[in-house]
Amino acid sequence: MKRTALIGQLAPYSGQTVTLQGWVNRRRDLGGLIFIELRDRSGVVQVQVEPDSPAFAEADQLRAEYVAEIEGRLQLRPEGQRKGGLGDHEVIATRVKVLGVAKTPAFELDKGDQVAEDIRLKYRYLDLRRPEMQRALMLRSRAVAAVTAFLEAEGFIQVETPMLTRSTPEGARDFLVPSRLSAGEFYALPQSPQLFKQLLMIAGFDRYYQLARCFRDEDLRADRQPDFTQLDMEMSFVEQDDVLEIQERLMAHVFREVLGVELPLPFPRLSYQDAMDRYGSDKPDLRFGLEFVEMTDLFAGGGFKAFASAASVKALVAPELTRKQIDELERVAKQNGAGGLAWLRREGEGFTGGISKFVGEVAPELIARTGVPEGGTLLFAAGEWKKAVSALGAVRLALRDLFGLAAAGPAFHVSWVVDFPQLDYDEDSASWTYMHHPFTAPHPDDVALFGTARQGEIRAQAYDLVLNGFEVGGGSVRIHDPEVQAQMFAAIGMSDEDAREKFGFFLDALASGTPPHGGIAWGFDRLIMVMAGAASIREVIAFPKNNRGVDLMAGAPSAVDAPQLAEVGVAVLAGE
Ligand code: AMO
Repeated sequence: MKRTALIGQLAPYSGQTVTLQGWVNRRRDLGGLIFIELRDRSGVVQVQVEPDSPAFAEADQLRAEYVAEIEGRLQLRPEGQRKGGLGDHEVIATRVKVLGVAKTPAFELDKGDQVAEDIRLKYRYLDLRRPEMQRALMLRSRAVAAVTAFLEAEGFIQVETPMLTRSTPEGARDFLVPSRLSAGEFYALPQSPQLFKQLLMIAGFDRYYQLARCFRDEDLRADRQPDFTQLDMEMSFVEQDDVLEIQERLMAHVFREVLGVELPLPFPRLSYQDAMDRYGSDKPDLRFGLEFVEMTDLFAGGGFKAFASAASVKALVAPELTRKQIDELERVAKQNGAGGLAWLRREGEGFTGGISKFVGEVAPELIARTGVPEGGTLLFAAGEWKKAVSALGAVRLALRDLFGLAAAGPAFHVSWVVDFPQLDYDEDSASWTYMHHPFTAPHPDDVALFGTARQGEIRAQAYDLVLNGFEVGGGSVRIHDPEVQAQMFAAIGMSDEDAREKFGFFLDALASGTPPHGGIAWGFDRLIMVMAGAASIREVIAFPKNNRGVDLMAGAPSAVDAPQLAEVGVAVLAGE
């Protein structure tokens, strides 16, 4: 390689002849001179080609996004034209060589942030040339290095687990892969390496980690991809606190190494019950306060019928709001399961607007409890507990966005949500199901509740890692006693035959000498998204799918030939 250094590392060569290789960021012609901005992943430098230079003819061929090799003298720009850093320097070209020609780019790279995302994704190789994208992927690479260094030093062993496997229990739909050798049968792509990492503990590896690709066929959102990466970890002979402690040190290490940010330790812990009750979310954004105020008792049995018999009434204190803003917040509440959003505006020692004619008697107590200032607004959600708090939780986030509440807090806030329920009741199918996955250990004090009317109260030894309102990780202590595993399957209505059919190999392993163990998986893309300050997970993945699950560049998914289908014994239904 002939180049002297990456462009961003040229400063020490000031006054010397250097060789650069990179892409033409921009070309301008001015007063007979050609100005080339040459770019590589480390920076941009201006190159000047004079009319009488032997490099002129070749330089004249250069267009945007051509690849070029340029030799010249690196010198300080004239006083008054210096822009700081490499912008203080320019190169006076003595030799130019075109290394690669380029079609006219599909979009102007430095306007990439204004281009429709689908265009960026279709021409991702161009999009990835943009400094923002290169910075995000380089940050991601540094995070991988930091994680690896930490875990290796802590005695974790990296093991790869299969991509072609059978259904794993994370509760989304599987992606299926037809088998040619066993025509008519299918592999499932793993939703996570959950069973394999537990098998590695049973096999005695003690501490495992892997940057694992996971596949879930679910509806996409800004923080979801159908294939995504987990930092997956598992440890033997641990209790919940052991897992949380090492995770905190790991997270602090990653933030320190990658961003130079010190996270205060230990991370605060909130029970699921508390998180929902105070913030209406199992992944509360704690960069700001705005806690709910409890109102159930204040209205119970009172004159305002809508609140009098509600299982739960909660309030939020908001600044002065316009009618339009209140309508918008009500839309948010309704979208999130509330019947409506009741409101009041404080005026003097009483209230106006909204439900003010129903609150006359309790006005002083409302003011005392909430501390709502003159002109301020109270917003209420009432109803079944989970519905009411979830709806008001969404309103809380809408207020955050409306008033920029997060900006006043720390740039990054990490917390744990713990003590999740073990079981979740599904209204539609009128049956119990698992909250995380069926191998999560119940709290030892609650095991006796399995099979009783109170099994909904069983707490799981499960925990989520929450960063700025995003769930960036989740894990649990696992069941290692086959007896308890059987109780768990029974609680979710899974028969012995069913369990054997689905997880027989795993149950056999569980009965073959299983150490107590537990672990966690980080949503690695999601973590990097927040660390990079990106608005979507797609900004930190080199080749993502769009929000309809399509890879616009490669054209996937796509139809396949009839012979290819026949080989794997698959027929496509007409009209599909
Ligand atoms: P869970 O299902 O909570 O746990 O997943 C762990 C973390 O992965 C991230 N995540 C996703 N990221 C991007 N796109 C998706 N579609 C997506 N789905 C999940 C989230 C989540 O917190 N086997 C367990 C882990 C364990 O118990 O150890 C598991 O997969 O950030």
